[in-house]
Amino acid sequence: MSHWEEFYATHLPPTDFEDNRILLKEFCERHKKAGERIVLITSGGTTVPLEHNTVRFVDNFSAGTRGAASAEYFLEHGYVVIFMHRLKSLEPFTRHFSGQKFMDMLELHDQGPNTSITVKPDSVDVLAPVLASYKHAQEGGRVLYVTFTTVSDYFWLLRAACECLAIFETKALLFLAAAVSDFYVPSNEMPTHKIQSGAGAPTIQLQLVPKLLAPLVNLWVPHAFVVSFKLETDESILIVKARDSLNKYKHKLVIGNMLQTRRQKVVFVTKDTSFEVSLTREQMLNGMEIEDSIVTNVITNHTEFLKTHQY
Ligand code: PMT
Repeated sequence: MSHWEEFYATHLPPTDFEDNRILLKEFCERHKKAGERIVLITSGGTTVPLEHNTVRFVDNFSAGTRGAASAEYFLEHGYVVIFMHRLKSLEPFTRHFSGQKFMDMLELHDQGPNTSITVKPDSVDVLAPVLASYKHAQEGGRVLYVTFTTVSDYFWLLRAACECLAIFETKALLFLAAAVSDFYVPSNEMPTHKIQSGAGAPTIQLQLVPKLLAPLVNLWVPHAFVVSFKLETDESILIVKARDSLNKYKHKLVIGNMLQTRRQKVVFVTKDTSFEVSLTREQMLNGMEIEDSIVTNVITNHTEFLKTHQY
């Protein structure tokens, strides 16, 4: 049994798995009939529980900004979107109004029984286009939201999504922006209940999480256009690691980014080329997002691929 098969054999699916599988199947079949292009976006970080009844877990930094912003740009370009994200991480559209930003857009007119709330005039310019795009996506049933929390949830959901996406063949694009845990505590080594501090500091042995890119590219969606991401903190190894990944998994494109500069620049790495996509200082000050350029470039690559790989 391979490492990834062993993982599935030793981890139960999440409780909402069957419901999500039905939603994924229905969404894919409906849009396949309409002849659309589809993108699966993974977004946010996975957790690694330390107990079955989880009080504590290992997490990572990802808030899901890349994935949520990219979803909006893919929709703008006419793709339908499966947005597979970490529960409570950023989502397309609502990300513009999270936290206090939303409250600051509103005005309270406190007049006793006739109290009302309005959007501040200078916020209407911000809210209106986002609301219009949201309504278009929602009313056309163009986005499906499915969520994971743990690395094990992510595994089950990713495979189910791929199995449904396979019918799109080359028209399916996978945009794997999630920050998936590399290490975990295997289910059979995890205590059932909260680890007690009375027994002293625990020694926790983490094991390597199998990479899913191998079965994904070779078995689940062999005809799809697969884009993975590579995050590093040491710039000198970024392109080498991205190219290693391409050589190992044989997918189409790796987008490399540095933790510190990921909002300003990324590098597109293919089998034979690499080029930087970046924002100027002026573009950043004007509120442009790098995901706009990333998505445009990815779609150009997907379109080229479709010209030569139609079945
Ligand atoms: O959320 P933000 O703050 O906007 O940050 C966005 C980001 C930095 C998280 C994103 O741009 C990014 O780089 N995501 C990938 C992080 C990473 O380095 O992943 P990795 O090297 O562990 O994995 C490489 C690729 O394989 C990734 O596309 C990952 O989704 C995929 N993978 C990883 C592990 C695993 N078991 N199976 C996988 O398929």
